[in-house]
Amino acid sequence: MKKNLFAVLTFAVFVLSACGGTEVTATPEAIPAEFVGKTNPLGADAAAAGGEVYKVYCMSCHGERGHGDGPAGAGLSPKPKNLPQLAATVGDDYIFWRISKGVPGTSMVGWQGTLKDEQIWQIVAFIHTLK
Ligand code: HEC
Repeated sequence: MKKNLFAVLTFAVFVLSACGGTEVTATPEAIPAEFVGKTNPLGADAAAAGGEVYKVYCMSCHGERGHGDGPAGAGLSPKPKNLPQLAATVGDDYIFWRISKGVPGTSMVGWQGTLKDEQIWQIVAFIHTLK
């Protein structure tokens, strides 16, 4: 009987962790209500301006092509994210939120206040030009 209970529990934990894993991949983290569904008000031509802002504020950690391989990011844990890879899996609302508010507990600070919303959207447009 004890053995059966153990088997049931093991199976339950396995199922739960499998579900959890799938969910994390689909939705990295819940986007706060004030950001969810936001879309870039700027056209694709904002990317050039975004590239200039990116160079000054982001490239040292995220690298020239956004691969997370900038010199200032080399010693960080967690490492800076690969931005084109991220952009392939999440929406612009997610990216805009993360740049605005940062990732608590990491070297990724929030840029709201330092950068205007318009500049952050320019960067979002720029990230879409990266491969
Ligand atoms: C001091 C180094 C540093 C600088 C400068 C920096 N970042 Fe980051 N960034 C990080 C790190 C480290 C992470 C990874 C956090 C994590 O793994 O959750 C990150 C994560 C991100 C993420 C993804 C978060 C996620 O949820 O996956 C985005 C988007 C991002 N950075 C964009 C930018 C932009 C745009 C700039 C410039 C305005 C910038 N970063 C400047 C270090 C930096």
